[in-house]
Amino acid sequence: MTAQPDLTVNIGALELRNPVLAASGTFGYGSEYGRFVDLSDFGGIVTKTLTPEPWPGNPPPRAAETAAGMLNSIGLQNVGVEAFIRDKMPYLRNVDTALIVNVGGGPVEEFVYVTERLSDCEGIDALEINMSCPNVSGGMDFSTDPGRAAELVSTLRGITELPLIAKLTPNVTDIGEIARSVEEAGADAISAINTLRGMAVDIRTRRPMLGAVTGGLSGPAIKPVAVAAVYRIANEVAVPVIGIGGIMSGEDAVEFLVAGATAVQVGTATFVEPHAGPSVARTLAEWCAASDVPSVRSLIGSIRIPSQEEAPCHRS
Ligand SMILES: Cc1cc2nc3c(=O)[nH]c(=O)nc-3n(C[C@H](O)[C@H](O)[C@H](O)COP(=O)(O)O)c2cc1C
Repeated sequence: MTAQPDLTVNIGALELRNPVLAASGTFGYGSEYGRFVDLSDFGGIVTKTLTPEPWPGNPPPRAAETAAGMLNSIGLQNVGVEAFIRDKMPYLRNVDTALIVNVGGGPVEEFVYVTERLSDCEGIDALEINMSCPNVSGGMDFSTDPGRAAELVSTLRGITELPLIAKLTPNVTDIGEIARSVEEAGADAISAINTLRGMAVDIRTRRPMLGAVTGGLSGPAIKPVAVAAVYRIANEVAVPVIGIGGIMSGEDAVEFLVAGATAVQVGTATFVEPHAGPSVARTLAEWCAASDVPSVRSLIGSIRIPSQEEAPCHRS
């Protein structure tokens, strides 16, 4: 039994004390949870997507529970980058964990504006580019087309020194192709996945459960899709991959690391239990100790794919 496993991992130049991050859009601007959770138990937190101007989001209802998950159509409601810098950064600067700020927008110029403003702001460790929101018109355009994905990342690469994490959508035919294009354009890491497009109908009223009709599916229901995406991406690129999708426990985090992730993000689980992120980090450490794994780094990409002779034959 390993006493104190080493949980540190690196996302490019950024060292995290453990591989567990809070996912964008599920952890507000950090301060909302600071009263309930010790934020330094996280390897880092990722804040809600910011746009140049404050944004009200989509009409309600904006969330619906589904089997093993939830649908949301929040639609990038946020305070806008100026209010974020003025009102949220004084708190976030004093939080003892890595701060990753998620950047969004419509046209490229909006991403550029937000990135420029944040690059001048002290206390931010990295930017995550939300190229993949299914809940805004045109929100996924940047990560469904390799050319547009590369154009966005290379434009932002040219204007900031901060590490850039490209967050990809699973709503594509081949996520590996998109991953390759953003790596070539200068992304320091890739996070995957954002939500899957989904819909639910209230059969009594025959109305959609969400005001925006469709939304994004998250939670344990999407975990196998996310693990497959991480495995695919990790086989295509050399930069670190951050796995997201349905993580509820330390064992779930191990699964993502073995499939190729360097770090993970916890999203929907936080709505079930506000301590979900720290609990994933703690149970990951316990699992490593009980499994004689001295460092989580040794788990990354350690998957064993059976040879053709060993593999069972699947015809379905
Ligand atoms: C209510 C809600 C709001 C979200 N808002 C954002 C967002 O603003 N930006 C973003 O990049 N992802 C957003 N996401 C996606 C999550 O960060 C994450 O990629 C996704 O939910 C899958 O992880 P999970 O299954 O652990 O929730 C949101 C997810 C939920 C459930």
